[in-house]
Amino acid sequence: MVFMYSKQLNEQKYKSMAPTEITSPAANPSVRHGNPPGHYLPAHRALLTRLHNRYTHLALLHLKLLRFLNCRPVMAAVSPAPHSPPKMVDGEPNGHPGTGARGGNVDDGIPVVDFDVLINGTSDQRSQAVRDLGRACKDWGFFMVINHGVPEDLKKEFVEACKELFGLPEEEKAEHLEAEPMAPIRIGSGFYAVVDGARYLRNYLKMFAHPELHCPAKPAKLRDVAAEYSAKTRDMMQHLARAISESLGLDGGRISEALNLDSCLQFLVGNHYPRHTGPGDLGVRLPAHSDPGLLTLLFQDGVDGLQVEHDGQWILAKPLPGAFFVIAGDQLEIVSNGRYKATVHRAVVGSEQERMSFVSMLSPSMDTVVEPLPELEQEGKGLQFRGVKYRDYMAYQQSNKLEAKEALNIVRVQHGDTNGRIEQLN
Ligand code: OGA
Ligand code: NI
Repeated sequence: MVFMYSKQLNEQKYKSMAPTEITSPAANPSVRHGNPPGHYLPAHRALLTRLHNRYTHLALLHLKLLRFLNCRPVMAAVSPAPHSPPKMVDGEPNGHPGTGARGGNVDDGIPVVDFDVLINGTSDQRSQAVRDLGRACKDWGFFMVINHGVPEDLKKEFVEACKELFGLPEEEKAEHLEAEPMAPIRIGSGFYAVVDGARYLRNYLKMFAHPELHCPAKPAKLRDVAAEYSAKTRDMMQHLARAISESLGLDGGRISEALNLDSCLQFLVGNHYPRHTGPGDLGVRLPAHSDPGLLTLLFQDGVDGLQVEHDGQWILAKPLPGAFFVIAGDQLEIVSNGRYKATVHRAVVGSEQERMSFVSMLSPSMDTVVEPLPELEQEGKGLQFRGVKYRDYMAYQQSNKLEAKEALNIVRVQHGDTNGRIEQLN
């Protein structure tokens, strides 16, 4: 659906989503038929009642944000979507792994960054590694990191703790089930069931890990594991942010200062994707999207399924053993004034095996107003994004349908705005 950014249109949109429509299971056949018995997915009746109760709150949040963004009809405020869908599209947004993605491996050219060289290399090695990293960000917005120093055992413990959590009876995690988009702990299904009706089969745990660790009480081991895993991956991403800053010709600390990364919002996500369930299921478990933060670090449990868009094609991302994937997020595109683009990706799961993936995301601090660094303004082109507080950006991104780079497009400055400067919309 095309964004409708007049307040009026949004109010209409909410009116048309009458609660009776939401609470009727018949309105959502994919929810009714989608859940394989024995898999954890919230009881629909309880879920839908909860959604109903949250409905008003969500609508208000949405409208508040639209007011904050001072939205006008879409053509006036938002430049045309720069994202052209990948060419190999079959059926709905995205297609099937078998037909939609090139079978990826290192030959596909997914860049590889040796973290150890970035940290411990000689100055020449380091300079070369920074240049390579810059090229990886520019050409792909996606790369693998090897020799990262995060112990395999710690990754395994995080996997095990998440598995335990997904296996717990619903009562044990009830307080976090389908929590609102900015709640520090969320356990749910789909992307955000209020807007996608849990149409995409996926169970998730999302928890804020920094500045403060928020963790479900059970399983008991999760807290310590999450604390250690988040600290190690945060440290690594802070180093990557330094090197990325340098790759843009800036001081190493520039991005970190601009985004207040010392008090960054970091969150951890565990994703569990049930396997393919039957005819008509194309296996898309998380539709094409870019991530809201600065950098996303991802590993999977051995079953591939992450696809990234590159040169108009879906590439199946096959990791080197033990490697992490790093995905450039929306805030990197904003702060770099579009030099580095957020990468569109999706998750696809076949009929053979269920899959899990684990994300650690580094974002600006919640109260940072993120805007392009003025020194990256290009002659005659101006700044490509207007400033937006990260808290508002994330609230918006997390409470709407996942649609490629739609959230980013809202803060993109239209060509022809006064000198490309952020237009004061008030
Ligand atoms: C995500 C995501 C992809 C995957 O959680 O934002 O893109 O491979 N996950 O599960
Ligand atoms: Ni993602």
